[in-house]
Amino acid sequence: MFFASDNWAGAHRSIAERLLQESTGFAAAYGTSELDRRVEARFAEIFEREVSVFFVATGTAANSLSLASVQRPGGITFCHSEAHVIEDECGAPDFFSSARLVAVPGEAGKIDPDKLAKKIAGFPADAVHHGRATAVTITQATEIGTVYSLSEIDAISAIAKQSNLPLHMDGARFANALVALGATPAEMTWKRGVDILSFGGTKNGCWCAEAIVFFNPEQAKEMPFIRKRAAQLFSKSRFIAAQFDGYFENNLWLDLAGHSNGMADRLRAGISGSNSARLAWATTSNEVFAVIPRSAAKVAEERGAKFYEWPVPTATPELVGSEETLIRLVTSFATTEADVDGFLSCLVA
Ligand SMILES: Cc1ncc(COP(=O)(O)O)c(C=O)c1O
Repeated sequence: MFFASDNWAGAHRSIAERLLQESTGFAAAYGTSELDRRVEARFAEIFEREVSVFFVATGTAANSLSLASVQRPGGITFCHSEAHVIEDECGAPDFFSSARLVAVPGEAGKIDPDKLAKKIAGFPADAVHHGRATAVTITQATEIGTVYSLSEIDAISAIAKQSNLPLHMDGARFANALVALGATPAEMTWKRGVDILSFGGTKNGCWCAEAIVFFNPEQAKEMPFIRKRAAQLFSKSRFIAAQFDGYFENNLWLDLAGHSNGMADRLRAGISGSNSARLAWATTSNEVFAVIPRSAAKVAEERGAKFYEWPVPTATPELVGSEETLIRLVTSFATTEADVDGFLSCLVA
């Protein structure tokens, strides 16, 4: 009953086997092997256009270096107030890009387009004392399990484009969002005006495989140097490529995300039907937030369930009663129906 995070799960067997296959041979280093090239070409097929792809090891590196690639002195990147880049990356995006992050509020973990426009307007291009707007970043799926619809991405994108700002997407849970929307990778990204994507594989069955994807290769020109200086150019880059090769084969990545979203649906249904617990807010990806009795949380922990208690949002303290707690449950490709049902049985009052 591991619901603490999707990165607590191991690696999918097919990806492990793909790595093993690759482990005995020799191949050119630093991203120049035939396999690296082939997997880069696979990204182009998946996104239905020419792309520039850079493999890195962590989601934090993917976000930080993506944002560094578009920065100018005094730069400001706008993100949601609960975004991973501003809350959970120890200032790495600021460190690597020498830019600041400015938080924009919005319901359901999503940037409010009107508030974004107002924030950007607060940094006119000639106001040297305040700094200047240089990028916008959104997270898909969001940190609280919600998913931007295609029209919601359009609304953010339109504002970014009006101000000539590149739009970055943190896709640590890209596949979960894609499956939840039933969209194609192209529809959820460049067709909506996304310029740069942090494409996550680790949370969805890889060992550690993340990629930075540029939809306009012109914008990627500095990235080879940015990545090297950030110590993210792996000599044995082919082992990241091999993970993605296994990940994409026969659409494994979509099947895995479909499974973890399905397990989250099962949790959502069970919690909604319970007489002692309730969903804290609606989610559609592989994260579920629930308000449960403290006594049930204790029982679940005693039975071996792993999950995090989550801070109650300051705007809605009434969400959680004095004998209750807010928890986050994250499903993964490795979650089983027995795990879900085992957790739900702890909620029986
Ligand atoms: C939305 C989001 N972005 C980025 C990351 C960063 O990933 P990593 O821990 O690999 O740096 C995470 C990890 O939890 C995440 O949830």
